[in-house]
Amino acid sequence: MRYRKLGRTGLEVSEVGYGAWGIGGVMWADSEDETSLKALEHAISLGLNFIDTAYVYGDGHSEELVAKVHKRHPKTIVATKIPGKNMRWPAQPNVPIQDVFPVQWMLDCTDRSLKKLGVEQIDLQQMHVWSPDFIHNDEWREARERLMKAGKIRFFGVSVNDHQPQSVMELVKTGLVDTVQVIYNIFDQSPGDGLTALCRELNVGVIARCPFDEGGLTGAIKPGVKFEPSDWRNRYFSGDRPQQVWDRVQKLQKEIGDAAVSLPDAALRYCLSDPAVSTVIPGMRRPSSVEQNCASSDRGPLPKDLLARLKAHRWERNFYGA
Ligand SMILES: NC(=O)c1ccc[n+]([C@@H]2O[C@H](COP(=O)([O-])OP(=O)(O)OC[C@H]3O[C@@H](n4cnc5c(N)ncnc54)[C@H](OP(=O)(O)O)[C@@H]3O)[C@@H](O)[C@H]2O)c1
Repeated sequence: MRYRKLGRTGLEVSEVGYGAWGIGGVMWADSEDETSLKALEHAISLGLNFIDTAYVYGDGHSEELVAKVHKRHPKTIVATKIPGKNMRWPAQPNVPIQDVFPVQWMLDCTDRSLKKLGVEQIDLQQMHVWSPDFIHNDEWREARERLMKAGKIRFFGVSVNDHQPQSVMELVKTGLVDTVQVIYNIFDQSPGDGLTALCRELNVGVIARCPFDEGGLTGAIKPGVKFEPSDWRNRYFSGDRPQQVWDRVQKLQKEIGDAAVSLPDAALRYCLSDPAVSTVIPGMRRPSSVEQNCASSDRGPLPKDLLARLKAHRWERNFYGA
């Protein structure tokens, strides 16, 4: 496992971090705590030291599982998130900040996360949505300052609305966020249009999320793919989307050839090929996924000629919203 700086925080984070949404269960209906805990432990044994969770993942269940592992490995760096009070994703335009990030809500959510995580300080607290309308508002600024002064959080960041990397450019320029977390993968290459370069210039850490497009970029999504009835991926991969994904993935696999050991390997190394990226955080509830993904860090960036050809595989769409 290799390590990179998480921007100006100075924290050394593993290139492959742990995306802890799936282990919270509920929306990911096939999660099993025992397997998830084994996967987390295995990841840490392979050098992973950064875990991304959120207040809402399984209504705190993900934070509880992370807490169990963090207790045994207190040096792991944990990031969590404050949801909007209106529980809407993505943040909607023209909704007042009082409905999303009032000061007291941000303080209360942080207190609950501190309890669930079993820590006195959160390494990285992130706003779970962002609307450019909030930029001049005092609420989130005041909450950030009070949480930092009270020592309840060490660093503060933002998780960007799905497929909207441009929406945080002004926020990054304020100097008030230490990190941005953004969808970045072979299909959604848009953070490379300017956001990651800006973050690099201003020394803001970049956390690349959804490197596998929720499974599309692992090769697991084919026509006929089945999930548990209550699993949210039934919506994400509804209708003819599995066929669309599969057609793209077959072309992609031909393009990659033997330049990577597998499609997931190429997908992770694609993210890590951008030097602005500090860590990529795949969801990986199975120890076998962990084993494969942690090995990708050691293989380094993808070859430059392949990166150039991958530009043609960009796919602009939003399966979350539609
Ligand atoms: N708004 C936000 O802030 C937001 C939104 C989405 C995600 N996130 C963060 O980003 C993280 C990553 O996104 P994600 O978990 O939604 O999706 P993802 O990382 O794009 O994909 C996760 C899927 O890939 C599978 N997988 C992982 N490694 C594999 C491998 N080597 N071979 C085959 N399959 C493999 C996982 O299977 P198994 O789990 O069964 O191993 C899981 O089904 C989240 O966990 C969360 O921390 C944040």
